[in-house]
Amino acid sequence: MASHLWKAKAGADEVPRLRHAVADYVAGHGVCNRLLEDMSLAVSEVVTNAVLHAYPHGAEGDIVVVATVEGDEVTVRVVDEGIGTAPRIGSPGAGLGLLIAGRIAQRMVVEHPLHGGTDVRMTFLRTG
Ligand SMILES: Nc1ncnc2c1ncn2[C@@H]1O[C@H](COP(=O)(O)OP(=O)(O)O)[C@@H](O)[C@H]1O
Ligand SMILES: [Mg+2]
Repeated sequence: MASHLWKAKAGADEVPRLRHAVADYVAGHGVCNRLLEDMSLAVSEVVTNAVLHAYPHGAEGDIVVVATVEGDEVTVRVVDEGIGTAPRIGSPGAGLGLLIAGRIAQRMVVEHPLHGGTDVRMTFLRTG
């Protein structure tokens, strides 16, 4: 099993940075391009959510991303310590991000830890 963790202050710049960091790391473990692209799309949506929704009104907070490669499975976990996931009336997004991520990942679990925030775990199956 191989695993890597990134921690960043929530901010728009972190979306492409984390997406690329995760893709580079996973690519280093011989994952095919098709899966990398799909995974990057899902990671982008979920990290964007943490940036856009977890810390509203300019609040500061961290985002932690953990990528794990184990056998045929690649798991990406995106954790924030924000307000927790709840429907947001008038969200600036199109409201499709979680749906897209859920369609791409073989498994997706969204949890609300007792101490607050949102913990999203996505598992992708590699074929090559
Ligand atoms: N990390 C998060 N923290 C707080 N709320 C979240 C988080 N992720 C998702 N949400 C909530 O779930 C809703 C749906 O997310 P999503 O499907 O990506 O749609 P969109 O981001 O376009 O609104 C968001 O509008 C927001 O209310
Ligand atoms: Mg979204």
